[in-house]
Amino acid sequence: MYKKILAGVHKKYPIIIGKKSICKEFLPKAVKNNSKVMIITDFGVPKEIIESIDKILKKESKFVKIHKIAQGENSKSFAQFEKTQNKLAQLRFDRTDCIIALGGGVVGDLAGYIASSYQRGIDFIQIPTTLLAQVDSSVGGKTAINLEHGKNLVGAFYNPKLVLVCSEFLKTLPKRQYYAGLAEVLKYGIISNKKIFHLFKNNLKKIDSRQQKIINELIFLSIKTKAKIVLEDEKENGIRAILNYGHTYGHAIEALSNFKDILHGEAVLIGMLKATNMSYFSAQGQLSWEERTEIEDIIVSMIKKFNPNLLSTKYNLTKFKRSMMGDKKVKSGKLNLVLIKSIGSAFVTGSFLESDLDFSIEIMQANFP
Ligand SMILES: NC(=O)c1ccc[n+]([C@@H]2O[C@H](COP(=O)([O-])OP(=O)(O)OC[C@H]3O[C@@H](n4cnc5c(N)ncnc54)[C@H](O)[C@@H]3O)[C@@H](O)[C@H]2O)c1
Repeated sequence: MYKKILAGVHKKYPIIIGKKSICKEFLPKAVKNNSKVMIITDFGVPKEIIESIDKILKKESKFVKIHKIAQGENSKSFAQFEKTQNKLAQLRFDRTDCIIALGGGVVGDLAGYIASSYQRGIDFIQIPTTLLAQVDSSVGGKTAINLEHGKNLVGAFYNPKLVLVCSEFLKTLPKRQYYAGLAEVLKYGIISNKKIFHLFKNNLKKIDSRQQKIINELIFLSIKTKAKIVLEDEKENGIRAILNYGHTYGHAIEALSNFKDILHGEAVLIGMLKATNMSYFSAQGQLSWEERTEIEDIIVSMIKKFNPNLLSTKYNLTKFKRSMMGDKKVKSGKLNLVLIKSIGSAFVTGSFLESDLDFSIEIMQANFP
């Protein structure tokens, strides 16, 4: 049993969601015309997962190279990009061969950018193994590496030919990583898909214990929601920007923490809290107090489960604002924020009062239950 979503704007590609058996079922056909396959993965991806994919490919008589990179954001670098490209050339990979990204968003972003540029583009398959990668980074075709001056500043839009999503791979994921992925799931519920929000709200215990059925349903709905938004606006000239809900605040939080001791998804959770408050308190605010509180309750209860310290961290207002103004999404010096009118309905605005912004940054969770 599996579910299939067709994604992509110009050329469609399938995203298959199901049990581990989907790898056996779909991978052989996808690599039928590739004689060599490089699996790009990292040292934190469980051995059993890597071996299971390697075994399927070997059974198809493919030449398989497993290329492991160091865990973490630092691997999205020119150094790793160059090293991997050289390995491909050394092993005489050509345009008829294939790269498989097997891991989280770091592996997916790096491997995708390598696939987009090696010999001007070779086949690419994504097998995401973190929740964030399954619901977010493997959908939408964005690939990237980092520069000293910022994250994801160099990259390309490049679609895979297949994405295989197995929630069973998430069993070994550390709790903080799991919740960082859940942040993006909740985001889809807040900005676009009320069904996700209510499923989330009504199943917090089952989600916490990683009950397969509910996780599968949330993954499916999340991918469907993101794929639909990307279909409307692949290159982020309009509606796709709503996917950045909480992210402008979140990026500032990550920067103020020097990208240490905080995961992207954790920063996004706090960012969504601030954006939700802005959606209620600002002059532009249309969100009702009831919905503001509903969202706050879920986020706070999530954070308490995995990193309660996040709720009491205070940030310097001036530095926070400066950091927000440095965000990639600032266009011609103007800060645009994604706010919500109600749960499931987001909009982008640049017209808000600076004092509202200050307030939304400052408002701390002193009264949280
Ligand atoms: N391209 C996009 O559209 C997009 C969207 C969102 C985020 N991103 C990028 O994604 C990256 C973050 O991705 P991430 O959160 O997946 O982090 P990650 O790739 O760093 O993975 C997190 C950790 O989980 C480990 N891991 C992976 N699978 C595992 C498993 N099944 N069991 C146990 N451990 C496992 C990894 O070894 C790693 O240490 C960032 O670089 C971000 O910029 C890209």
